[in-house]
Amino acid sequence: MLLCPVNSSTLVSVLFLLLPQAALARWACVRACPSSCTCTQERSCSVLCDRSALAELPKEFPCEASSINVDKNRLKFLSERAFGTLPSLRSLSLDHNNISFITPGAFKGLPNLVDLKMAHNEYISYLHTRTFTGLKKLVRVDMSDCNLFNIPDRIFLEQISLREVRCFQNHFRRIPGAFRDMVNLTHIYLEKNKIEAVAYNSLLGLSNLRYLNLEDNRINVIHDQSFQDLLRLENFYLNDNLLSVLPQDTFKGLSRLKMLNLGGNLLTNVSKTWFSDLVELEVLYLDRNRLLTIEEGSFENLTSLITLHLNSNNLTALPFPVFQPVYFLGRLYLFKNPWECGCSLEWLKEWMESYQLVRNIPCASPSSVAGLDLGEVVFGRANGSCVEPPELNATAASTAAPSTTENRFNSLIARLLQQELQDGTGNGTEGFRNETLLDPEEALLSAAARGQGVRSGPSHIYLLVAGILLGLSGRTEIGFHVFGT
Ligand SMILES: *[C@@H]1O[C@H](CO)[C@@H](O)[C@H](O)[C@H]1NC(C)=O
Ligand SMILES: *[C@@H]1O[C@H](CO)[C@@H](O)[C@H](O)[C@H]1NC(C)=O
Ligand SMILES: *[C@@H]1O[C@H](CO)[C@@H](O)[C@H](O)[C@H]1NC(C)=O
Ligand SMILES: *[C@@H]1O[C@H](CO)[C@@H](O)[C@H](O)[C@H]1NC(C)=O
Ligand SMILES: *[C@@H]1O[C@H](CO)[C@@H](O)[C@H](O)[C@H]1NC(C)=O
Ligand SMILES: *[C@@H]1O[C@H](CO)[C@@H](O)[C@H](O)[C@H]1NC(C)=O
Ligand SMILES: *[C@@H]1O[C@H](CO)[C@@H](O)[C@H](O)[C@H]1NC(C)=O
Ligand SMILES: *[C@@H]1O[C@H](CO)[C@@H](O)[C@H](O)[C@H]1NC(C)=O
Ligand SMILES: *[C@@H]1O[C@H](CO)[C@@H](O)[C@H](O)[C@H]1NC(C)=O
Repeated sequence: MLLCPVNSSTLVSVLFLLLPQAALARWACVRACPSSCTCTQERSCSVLCDRSALAELPKEFPCEASSINVDKNRLKFLSERAFGTLPSLRSLSLDHNNISFITPGAFKGLPNLVDLKMAHNEYISYLHTRTFTGLKKLVRVDMSDCNLFNIPDRIFLEQISLREVRCFQNHFRRIPGAFRDMVNLTHIYLEKNKIEAVAYNSLLGLSNLRYLNLEDNRINVIHDQSFQDLLRLENFYLNDNLLSVLPQDTFKGLSRLKMLNLGGNLLTNVSKTWFSDLVELEVLYLDRNRLLTIEEGSFENLTSLITLHLNSNNLTALPFPVFQPVYFLGRLYLFKNPWECGCSLEWLKEWMESYQLVRNIPCASPSSVAGLDLGEVVFGRANGSCVEPPELNATAASTAAPSTTENRFNSLIARLLQQELQDGTGNGTEGFRNETLLDPEEALLSAAARGQGVRSGPSHIYLLVAGILLGLSGRTEIGFHVFGT
């Protein structure tokens, strides 16, 4: 057992009388420096033993050591009291070793340790309940990227000051019970584990938690009221899980929440009750889900919202009442959705123009505007009200009458035109014209002549040929619509 030597030797006593305090401390720190380490005494005594190919810990550390770094060595094992008695030690780092076993009581003798890092030790698959015995002042512990499947429920029994626990990139299948009722915890990092569900009692009593990261797990169930005690939570990562539904009251009471990330899940529907209490929420991620509907009023109480990510979903419509009365949004991300750019989105276009807040809203339908950005769509007006952009429908033209020569031509023309329009709409065409009941021949020729929205190419020629044939076969009335300037 290693013990920190007390100032008992005569030599030390004599020096203590002769030297100034700082010089004495420097001497003491360096004097006891292990051979494979470097020790420096600035404001406190630091011991650096990283990258030294150590297979075992040095026999002794300076008694005054305030921080010890043994990162990137080949340690395999920590025995009981592995560091002896170091009453001044506040920070200990054992990252990137090959530790596979930590004897219970390994850290005894470090009563003032605040920071303990043992991340990236890929063979630690088990920790004993008494692993952290004696660490009564521990504030932060990092066990990320080890090989842990769980930690014992009572492992932090003595660590009443613990605030931050980093456990990301392990194999946890549930949230460790060890966190329950740890009132002083403020940060929990559990991303990149294999957690499948959040039980109603997993996070009970964590009333000071500010940061919870559950990103990149396999969570498909969140039980009702699971987060009810997290009343001070500010940053919450639930993205990249397998959530398809959430209980109505999931985030109830989380009125301090500033950032909520629900991106990369399987949600199809945003319920209006989810965000009712999130009055301080500034950033909301709902991107990369399968959203088809957003209930009216869903964002109603998000009066602090600055950024909303709705990109990469299956949304076709975004009714204005969904946003009421969110008066201000800094950024609204809507790209990668099959937007239906009809009159119901006219408000959004106006909003885009007024506030320059939204960009990149590609239209998927109606076909006359497919491929355009909403910003490029010009809504027609009749008696002051918006006219829906037309749906170009190849079959509509031919369903009316039996198969006459004219109708076959008509449907051919309509099909060709539609194809041309869809092909040619990549570039910003300023608008479209409702040319229903126009003489087809004239419409064709005028469309061809304008050349906008109708690209030149082989089918362009077919159009003209078809138009001439149609002209020969007599005049008829069909309905279709072309882009125009
Ligand atoms: C690390 O430890 C494991 C298991 O204890 C062992 O199989 C492996 O060879 C060790 N790796 C190194 C680099 O020492
Ligand atoms: C939280 O910290 C305070 C002060 O350090 C301590 O008295 C209390 O016991 C701690 N609570 C828990 C549940 O650990
Ligand atoms: C959305 O979900 C809520 C509750 O989960 C449900 O009541 C509502 O009917 C759903 N709406 C749609 C359009 O699916
Ligand atoms: C918004 O907050 C008010 C007051 O807390 C509440 O009555 C209302 O139901 C909330 N709206 C929604 C859509 O949840
Ligand atoms: C959502 O869109 C994806 C790809 O765009 C598609 O594969 C999926 O079927 C759509 N889901 C629903 C429910 O419409
Ligand atoms: C436009 O308004 C005029 C006069 O109010 C009315 O006669 C006409 O039917 C309206 N047209 C349409 C398309 O609503
Ligand atoms: C095109 O105009 C006609 C008559 O002016 C109208 O009946 C029809 O609804 C319009 N179509 C569209 C899609 O606006
Ligand atoms: C085309 O028109 C037909 C008949 O009006 C309708 O049944 C069909 O759904 C339409 N197709 C599209 C893509 O709008
Ligand atoms: C659209 O066409 C105009 C002129 O026809 C050209 O200047 C512009 O670069 C094109 N834009 C795109 C995105 O292709």
